[in-house]
Amino acid sequence: MSVITCVEDLRLLARRRVPRMFYDYADSGSWTETTYRANEQDFQRIQLRQRVAVNVETRSLRTRMLGEEVAMPVALAPTGLTGMQHADGEILAARAAQDFGVPFTLSTMSICSIEDIAAHTSAPFWFQLYVMRDRDFIERLIDRAKAANCSALMLTLDLQILGQRHKDLKNGLTAPPRPTLRNLLDLATKPRWVMGIARTRRRSFGNIVGHARGVDDLSSLSSWTSQQFDPRLNWSDVEWIKRRWGGKLIVKGVMDAEDARLAADCGADALVVSNHGGRQLDGAPSSIAALPAIVDAVGSRMEVWMDGGIRSGQDVFKALALGARGTLIGRAFLYGLGAMGEAGVTRCLQLIRNELDLTMAFCGLDDVSRIDRGTLIESRR
Ligand code: GLV
Repeated sequence: MSVITCVEDLRLLARRRVPRMFYDYADSGSWTETTYRANEQDFQRIQLRQRVAVNVETRSLRTRMLGEEVAMPVALAPTGLTGMQHADGEILAARAAQDFGVPFTLSTMSICSIEDIAAHTSAPFWFQLYVMRDRDFIERLIDRAKAANCSALMLTLDLQILGQRHKDLKNGLTAPPRPTLRNLLDLATKPRWVMGIARTRRRSFGNIVGHARGVDDLSSLSSWTSQQFDPRLNWSDVEWIKRRWGGKLIVKGVMDAEDARLAADCGADALVVSNHGGRQLDGAPSSIAALPAIVDAVGSRMEVWMDGGIRSGQDVFKALALGARGTLIGRAFLYGLGAMGEAGVTRCLQLIRNELDLTMAFCGLDDVSRIDRGTLIESRR
């Protein structure tokens, strides 16, 4: 690969370097993948209002997300199995985010543990929590996040049950991969990945192994989720978690204005409009299409952010224009990580920053806080 000029270049490189089952895990949606595709396609339909002859010599993308200063309103989303895109992936991504000045969120389903991230970073990070049947285990996870100085808890609400992603079933997804002939043939073509994984001891779910009771098959994500994720999850659990955590609470996975009001009633401090990257309910609208109604419903009560389909700074700009006060990227940084490790995550952030900065300038704005619905072409608002 010659010069990397866009997130798509990182994706193509990651596809060459990451074992098939992990690349596919990151890069697929559920069932027909209609919602997964809509997340990206709906951004492309939104048109920007170009302005000229405005002084845009000095520009700023700095703002705050939940009171924390950020270099741009883009945080790294919690993504499962990140340490399988590249050895020690969560540590590398957290470091890249810290050096760049944007928040990093560690997933419950990460390979590196909460303690690993705390030991390898100095900036506070966010921890993402799933509600599991074993409440004792949740309490201990919350305590571990507190001990690690996490500055916010992100509670995912849209994965009480797991959406079906065909490729994961066909590939027999496990972490680490099983030594089948198919996997060995694939790994033979991914020497960098194999060398990295051979050198690290972090090869399975670091927050769970040795911490959760009664988990008998940890190699399989789907068997863990079907055993442990709690389909009874309801709003009183959200209130309980808010109280137990006692700090800032972000709820993620809300696609409906009524649910957003209920989340605000529970005391959530921020909300992520998200369809889980099109990995859960196939047939749901794109996140960008769902955003405006949710901003109208609760934007004055809490910070509304969004994720899903962001592959460029133009996409971040459009999300901000439609009322998001922050955005999260998942696949975009995973492609960078799989392609080039920590340097790839940094490259992804640089690309998005540069695109956001120039887009803002072309629209005649010098500060990210000035981006609003008026910066879009009327018919598309
Ligand atoms: C877990 O968060 C997943 O989408 O696989």
